[in-house]
Amino acid sequence: MIRFVTETGSTNTDLASELRAGMAVPEGEWLVADRQVSGRGRQGRAWFDGYGNFMGSTVVHLSPRDPNPATLALVAGVAAYEAVSGVLADPSLLKLKWPNDILLNGKKLAGILCECIAQSGYTPAVIVGIGINLNHTRFPENIQDIATSLKLETGKNVNRTELALSLLQNLDSEYEDFLQGKMENLIRKWTEQSDMFGKTVTVNQKGKTLTGVAMGLNPQGKLILQTPDGKQHLLDSGELLATGATGKTTSD
Ligand code: BTN
Repeated sequence: MIRFVTETGSTNTDLASELRAGMAVPEGEWLVADRQVSGRGRQGRAWFDGYGNFMGSTVVHLSPRDPNPATLALVAGVAAYEAVSGVLADPSLLKLKWPNDILLNGKKLAGILCECIAQSGYTPAVIVGIGINLNHTRFPENIQDIATSLKLETGKNVNRTELALSLLQNLDSEYEDFLQGKMENLIRKWTEQSDMFGKTVTVNQKGKTLTGVAMGLNPQGKLILQTPDGKQHLLDSGELLATGATGKTTSD
């Protein structure tokens, strides 16, 4: 089920408030907004409110048997990738960027914000918020060089409802793999749609940067980064600052 609202602050914030107020927000239900006046991105950033874009959130109720909840961002990334690639004649320039972005032609097309909400008397829930730039063509000056939309890249309008339905179906199917612990399927799909592996990358983690070769994702969805001293670091969050050439994996 999809609840559409014409305007709200943030669909993530709305679902968080409902959960904190003890309201039942069933899995599979979505809140989708035409406008978000206080849309939120990762790391405290704002998310641009572009009319005609997809901005929606849903809830996952965690069970103690579930795999690492951090991998829900990968579930959402693969589902969003599949929905978007379905409307592109040539999806070869569509790439997943660790940890939670989708790039088209090197610019940000979509982002995912997963937030864990503690609930008294219940296991925690994760709110999965997805923003996909569909039909908006004017971005604020500070992001116009790094953001894009499907309309900007293809010249065509995208039917938001059709894309939302495809996203929901894909998310259901990827989430099923998550529930069944089929992490290898999820990691394989994510890895196939990213071009960062084998390359030298720089990751910012809370102000500290680490440069090394992106070796892959481990079964818990953590990025394996090998630094020149040969050490392998497992990163579960951070920001990819730069992706360079195909890297060496040793210090020599
Ligand atoms: C990012 O790339 O920084 C994550 C962006 C997430 C944006 C979506 S839009 C729907 C949901 N509501 C929000 O306030 N944020 C997420």
